[in-house]
Amino acid sequence: MRFLITGNKGMLGSDLSQALVERGDEVFGVDKDVLDITDAEAVERFVGEILPDVIVNCAAYTQVDDCEANETAASKVNAWAVESLADAANRVDALLVQISTDFVFDGSATRPYEINDPVAPISAYGRSKLEGEERARIAKRHVVLRTSWLFGVRGWNFLEAIRKQVLLGRTELRVVTDQRGCPTYTPHLASAIVRLADIVRNSPELGGIYHYSDAPECTWFDFATEIVGAMKREGSAAPGTQVLPTTSADFPRPARRPAYSVLSTERYRRVTGCEPESWLDGIAEYFERLPSSSLTAK
Ligand SMILES: NC(=O)c1ccc[n+]([C@@H]2O[C@H](COP(=O)([O-])OP(=O)(O)OC[C@H]3O[C@@H](n4cnc5c(N)ncnc54)[C@H](OP(=O)(O)O)[C@@H]3O)[C@@H](O)[C@H]2O)c1
Repeated sequence: MRFLITGNKGMLGSDLSQALVERGDEVFGVDKDVLDITDAEAVERFVGEILPDVIVNCAAYTQVDDCEANETAASKVNAWAVESLADAANRVDALLVQISTDFVFDGSATRPYEINDPVAPISAYGRSKLEGEERARIAKRHVVLRTSWLFGVRGWNFLEAIRKQVLLGRTELRVVTDQRGCPTYTPHLASAIVRLADIVRNSPELGGIYHYSDAPECTWFDFATEIVGAMKREGSAAPGTQVLPTTSADFPRPARRPAYSVLSTERYRRVTGCEPESWLDGIAEYFERLPSSSLTAK
């Protein structure tokens, strides 16, 4: 199939393009320098020339805290541009896959969020992404895929933040125990996107909202503990390095985060017949993919 990937240089976009190229698909991966998705005319022209079967929108304004002071700028990319992509998809009868987020929920749930649970974002980023979901639905064929806590080797992410601290010699790291969710390794998410695109391209009635994140659920503290454990095993963290529990109150940030944002993957599992992959395997693969020069034994 012929895929157009926006946000191609980003953490998810780059892994998705790689997965599709390896599968033998025709991939047009573009970033802002080639196609700024906020330029509606450029989007229409580009999609009209490429004639993709599937457009996967991995482009986004992803600096969650910055969005609070720049909500209009965030909405331009995360919402208004999605409408241009949806219109363009309709003109060429393409499937639009819009990547969305657990931040559309307020985090007050006590069991995994189902696809039809009420949305109530508590941040500007979440509001802009929710508006993006609404605009994606303009596309006759669409998938809105919500995901969470991404980490991949070609982007700044939580794993990299912890790894950097440890490589700089920190032996005590304080990480919050009061936010619960599911880390997701971007190559695993890329496989889920490809599976859903294949299915919904052939059966548009299966479009709509899906949730995909890796398993099992955990806190940021648990995630950090596994990262440091992996670093100890490969010799890049001092044996005495400790992850210590703390709470969000000790880390005030401009944007509020949902306290609980575990996504139920029930529909994904039912439609694809596949179980979510493990973020623990994702951590192991992440370290295998890093260049060895990035290891510094302490
Ligand atoms: N990261 C997470 O934890 C997380 C969690 C849940 C959902 N998501 C969603 O997953 C998707 C991928 O996230 P990611 O972490 O891979 O993002 P990312 O690494 O920040 O990549 C986003 C890409 O979009 C590009 N972009 C920004 N504005 C653009 C524009 N106007 N036109 C074209 N490209 C533009 C960025 O380019 P520049 O860098 O040059 O601006 C960047 O290459 C996003 O929809 C995000 O909302 C992410």
